Amino acid sequence: MKRVVTLPSGETVPALGLGTWRMGENRRRRAAEADALRLGLDLGMTLIDTAEMYGEGGAEEVVADAIAGRRDEVFLVSKVYPHNASRKGTVAACERSLKRLKTDRIDLYLLHWRGAEPLAETVAGFEALVRSGKIRYWGVSNFDVDDMEELAGVEGGRRVATDQVLYNLARRGLEWDLLPWCRARRIPIMAYSPLDQGRILGKRVLKAVAARHGATPAQVALAWLLRHDDVIVIPKASDAAHVRDNRGALELALDEADLAALDAAWPPPRRRRPLEML
Ligand SMILES: NC(=O)c1ccc[n+]([C@@H]2O[C@H](COP(=O)([O-])OP(=O)(O)OC[C@H]3O[C@@H](n4cnc5c(N)ncnc54)[C@H](OP(=O)(O)O)[C@@H]3O)[C@@H](O)[C@H]2O)c1
Repeated sequence: MKRVVTLPSGETVPALGLGTWRMGENRRRRAAEADALRLGLDLGMTLIDTAEMYGEGGAEEVVADAIAGRRDEVFLVSKVYPHNASRKGTVAACERSLKRLKTDRIDLYLLHWRGAEPLAETVAGFEALVRSGKIRYWGVSNFDVDDMEELAGVEGGRRVATDQVLYNLARRGLEWDLLPWCRARRIPIMAYSPLDQGRILGKRVLKAVAARHGATPAQVALAWLLRHDDVIVIPKASDAAHVRDNRGALELALDEADLAALDAAWPPPRRRRPLEML
């Protein structure tokens, strides 16, 4: 089963993809990291999330190895550092990323978080990249509702394709405002650190729900996010067993009792909270 999420353009992308933070930092681990990504692609997780920041370009080089010879199978996401996100700087950063990725296009290019550059400048850079075919779509990351509102007021800003944000069982604040805001505008979100970087996996409730289904805690955490039809989920795994485990989340459907148990442990927000980020 390949679950998909629809972008504002109408194009669909895999709901479950592959993260790459912490990859490319150590030369001796690179081959194994590329193998893990290739395994994920073989299993149908054909969306890869990376950034110029990760391993200071090293993660993009690992991705290049993983997608060599199979670029057309992959929906490739990368990100520009805020300090590079002037109009010209965005274009130059993208060109450097394309070289490291050994490809001629990035499918979705994101502003990693808000910095000092005016949004109008960054959007102008993104739009120039779309016109030249170097990127297909652009979006943002770590934007709260006020940032999204400001973006919507910028020329071309409504063409934003996604907001990539911290979202998992233990980080639910965005359900109060940002998730409904995006949903009302048909902007899918990308949930990063969906396992809270492993911190939530030892919780008793997660183990109990997993046991009821013969599943693993990681699969429950991912299935909990995948039940939304407008959330793209990008766990990072450099261990092959973890990659296979994560893929299994697509087969797991949580029921009302599971959701109630998870809500009791990690309640939904009852008031507005600023967006959390890592
Ligand atoms: N836009 C942003 O600001 C931002 C911020 C953070 C992350 N991200 C993106 O989101 C991706 C995912 O977030 P993340 O890397 O922070 O954290 P994560 O995906 O929540 O957790 C990754 C950690 O969980 C482990 N793991 C993976 N699958 C597992 C499984 N089935 N069972 C047990 N442990 C498992 C991994 O170990 P192994 O590696 O050893 O397999 C790794 O230590 C990143 O890689 C990055 O692409 C974006």
